[in-house]
Amino acid sequence: MPEETTNGTQAQTTLDICVAAGCLSCQGDLVKEALEKEIDARGLAERVAVRGVGCLGLCMAGPLLRVSPDGILYQAMVPEDAGEIVESIGKKPVKRLECDAEQSFFTRQVKIVLENSGEVDPDKLDDYTAVGGYDALAKAVGEMEPSEVISEMVTSGLRGRGGGGYPSGLKWGTVAKADGARKYVICNADEGDPGAFMDRSVLESDPFRVLEGMAIAGYAVGADSGYVYCRAEYPLAVKRLKNAIRQAERAGFLGSNICGSSFRFTVDIRLGAGAFVCGEETALISSIEGNRGSPRPRPPFPAASGLWDCPTLINNVETFANVAPIIRNGGEWFSGIGTEKSKGTKVFALAGRVQNTGLIEVPMGTVLRDIIFDIGGGIPDGRKFKAVQTGGPSGGCIPEQFLDMAVTYESLAQAGSIMGSGGMIVMDETSCMVDVARYFMEFCMTESCGKCVPCRVGTMQMHELLEKITQGRASMKDLDLLEELCEVVRFSSLCGLGQTSPNPVLSTLRYFRDEYLAHIRDHVCPAGVCKMKSPSKIHAEVA
Ligand SMILES: Cc1cc2nc3c(=O)[nH]c(=O)nc-3n(C[C@H](O)[C@H](O)[C@H](O)COP(=O)(O)O)c2cc1C
Ligand code: SF4
Ligand code: SF4
Ligand code: FES
Repeated sequence: MPEETTNGTQAQTTLDICVAAGCLSCQGDLVKEALEKEIDARGLAERVAVRGVGCLGLCMAGPLLRVSPDGILYQAMVPEDAGEIVESIGKKPVKRLECDAEQSFFTRQVKIVLENSGEVDPDKLDDYTAVGGYDALAKAVGEMEPSEVISEMVTSGLRGRGGGGYPSGLKWGTVAKADGARKYVICNADEGDPGAFMDRSVLESDPFRVLEGMAIAGYAVGADSGYVYCRAEYPLAVKRLKNAIRQAERAGFLGSNICGSSFRFTVDIRLGAGAFVCGEETALISSIEGNRGSPRPRPPFPAASGLWDCPTLINNVETFANVAPIIRNGGEWFSGIGTEKSKGTKVFALAGRVQNTGLIEVPMGTVLRDIIFDIGGGIPDGRKFKAVQTGGPSGGCIPEQFLDMAVTYESLAQAGSIMGSGGMIVMDETSCMVDVARYFMEFCMTESCGKCVPCRVGTMQMHELLEKITQGRASMKDLDLLEELCEVVRFSSLCGLGQTSPNPVLSTLRYFRDEYLAHIRDHVCPAGVCKMKSPSKIHAEVA
């Protein structure tokens, strides 16, 4: 899209520079300023424009810059490179800074949720509407009955992207049918899984899209107000969201008489203090109500009795980001992507020991090997793949034997993990799987809200046992006890945090039991990660 220059003319060349948090954290803002200065200094302001855009995906190579229409991509720039880049416009590209835009990382992705990321300025409503933004909302409120919107969602087969994978159309239908003078829509932007940053990036790169999804949801279920519950550690996402709400209100996409109809919908932001458990839907609702964010038993589910006891639709950021394209293109279109039971695409945060770390979006059913080795570029330093951890603390580790598995909700569950919100941490032979389990247990122990005993005490006990194993102080009896505790905590905890906390332990025990045994029987950490206590010290303790 040609950008306007500072003089209001159409630019011949646009320098699209990533202004999402990843690139800003490595001087992206200074590079942007330097580019603007160089353009001014060379008198090119009438021909060349600089535009801030959302995440371009390959965050590890940031700051990233795309030159349009030439299609040149630059990576890892510093402000001092600005002169050379501006000088090269219309001439030969700066070879030393070039990033291959034709590599599989870019060409193998299919973008629905992230289609505007890196394409639009997240601070400008005009940019969003220029690529069809708010067409879906106008279509919904102008041409469709609420029930038709819900049918379209059901047809799409979209499942919640926040972790549970519950069918979104079904949830919308339940809220629409529920009795209540008032209803609410909540966007869950709490995202607390270690290694995950999908929701943050969507909010930073395309905030209007999330608001459009929420407004369509409000129309479908009969709600006139909504909240985005976002963790305070995401200040840039919150800032962009606030700005987007203000602009959407001014343009009639939020507030009263939306798109000229009688539909009214407002959105407010609520900040979370960063407790992992506040992402659990009942805890989140309690937090918005001004109470301590701890879960309550379900039923009643929020769809029947949620915020201030009113029927409440709660969906994840990525789930809402899928809504506008579904309404624009139809549910059939969406259900044609992915597999039979896992429709559409999924955004993953690729992290850990993989060449290309960053955000990717692929159709459901993409083979794990393609994600890690083709898109992800494989394992660096010639090392060997060992496992991939999916689903965060609620998930598990998937070993090499599953590399040819198509990634779906079902296949991941079968392999002993979950899709979760989309964190993917790749591990090589330098990772100790017992230590990985210990790390996630420490996370659950620290984040347990303490409301119920099995989780509060159980995660602590399990962590202690794992610590004992990693220090070479444990016996086989400890391992039996650990396995027993996994079952108790899994079945008797009140909420998902406790219920799923044993998953990383169970999956590593399933596939890497020999590593546990090496720690216990031989006092050896095969990966060389765990610091073992000396055998004499262990004897002294046992005695
Ligand atoms: C401990 C815990 C933390 C959670 N954290 C999040 C979160 O950060 N974001 C999210 O969308 N869902 C989170 N969930 C899932 C939500 O409770 C809920 O299922 C989800 O927001 C529903 O939206 P969806 O149907 O679009 O996935 C969490 C669940 C548990 C048990
Ligand atoms: S654990 Fe005890 S001290 Fe802490 S909040 Fe609950 S009742 Fe109060
Ligand atoms: S399972 Fe854990 S986090 Fe959930 S309510 Fe119980 S103590 Fe709190
Ligand atoms: S944050 Fe810049 S490419 Fe992802």
